Amino acid sequence: MGKNYQIAVIPGDGTGPEVIAEGIKVLKAASRIYGFNLQFTHHEIGGKYYKATGQVLPDEMLQSLESSDAIYLGAIGHPDVKPGILEKGILLKIRFHLDQYINLRPIKLYEGVSTPIKNKGPEEIDFVVVRENTEGLYAGAGGVLKMGTPDEVAVQESINTRKGVERCIRFAFDYCRKRGKAKKLTLCGKTNVLTYAFDLWERTFYEVAKEYPDIETDYAHVDAICMWMVKNPEWFDVIVTDNMFGDIITDLGAMIQGGMGIAAGGNINPDGVSMFEPIGGSAPKYTGKGVINPIAAISAAQLLLETLGETAAATAIEKGIIKTLKQDIKDIAAGKMGFSTSEVGDLIKNYIEHN
Ligand code: IPM
Ligand code: MN
Repeated sequence: MGKNYQIAVIPGDGTGPEVIAEGIKVLKAASRIYGFNLQFTHHEIGGKYYKATGQVLPDEMLQSLESSDAIYLGAIGHPDVKPGILEKGILLKIRFHLDQYINLRPIKLYEGVSTPIKNKGPEEIDFVVVRENTEGLYAGAGGVLKMGTPDEVAVQESINTRKGVERCIRFAFDYCRKRGKAKKLTLCGKTNVLTYAFDLWERTFYEVAKEYPDIETDYAHVDAICMWMVKNPEWFDVIVTDNMFGDIITDLGAMIQGGMGIAAGGNINPDGVSMFEPIGGSAPKYTGKGVINPIAAISAAQLLLETLGETAAATAIEKGIIKTLKQDIKDIAAGKMGFSTSEVGDLIKNYIEHN
């Protein structure tokens, strides 16, 4: 008998439920074949729930998420809800409460997917960003004085703790070793200007590096990283960085790997409950049309299984994604795939079943 896993599902808003349904379809097929059990519990939080109840994330729901083995999230965001309420009240709340201190973002261009970068292909675009996920500018430190007056002052401080920085850097070194590709870890910072925060990052990076003599170390400023990601993406294997820089460079990464229809991420607590999501958002204008690409959500499901340790099943999902992108889908953009959302899920499910 295989293991049993409790998966908390937050389909969320917009096209979230449509893509999550395909992810679950694929997860169920993989679990049947690879001999483990997944039990899905759905939670109806998101913009719609907030509009109807005035509640963002009730405590009992947070507790229930806490007792699951992993969380599978579709998308949060509603055109009629002021920006910030749902992002902070759901996404960031879960990340912080469950101490998901790593945001893991693979940037991998698959064959058959076009990148806006000229003369670069799957050989050149294959790296991973390890973003710190609970500190930095996201910690919420700061405040406002004299709001609404001409003398208004707004302060938003970046919090960097030795513990938080070190555990993120250690995760990145371990991940780089396990990945076993170029065994090169690049620290992305801004040591020439942010001399307090990134001094801490830099010192910690080189101290921890002594324990990983097999990993080559490298450093680049965040602005330079943006240039190199476009000009020479093949230079990168694993990049580690703080929360804000990580947020920015992973959107750039999503574009060079083909776009939001492909990009997935994990919010990881290596000793706790992790959460996996397609990073594309709720795409309200495509809602209910069955045209949105579910591959990002299916990649998130793959990351979920990888993190649970079901690596054979995760690999089978990735193989299914690779075949679908190479052989079937015309274009990864919504409405241009040549297949509906659920047909793409069926294709990948089929490949897993006839692997
Ligand atoms: C992401 C998103 C979030 C972030 C937003 C929605 C709060 O952009 O996961 O990258 O900034 O972290
Ligand atoms: Mn982001």
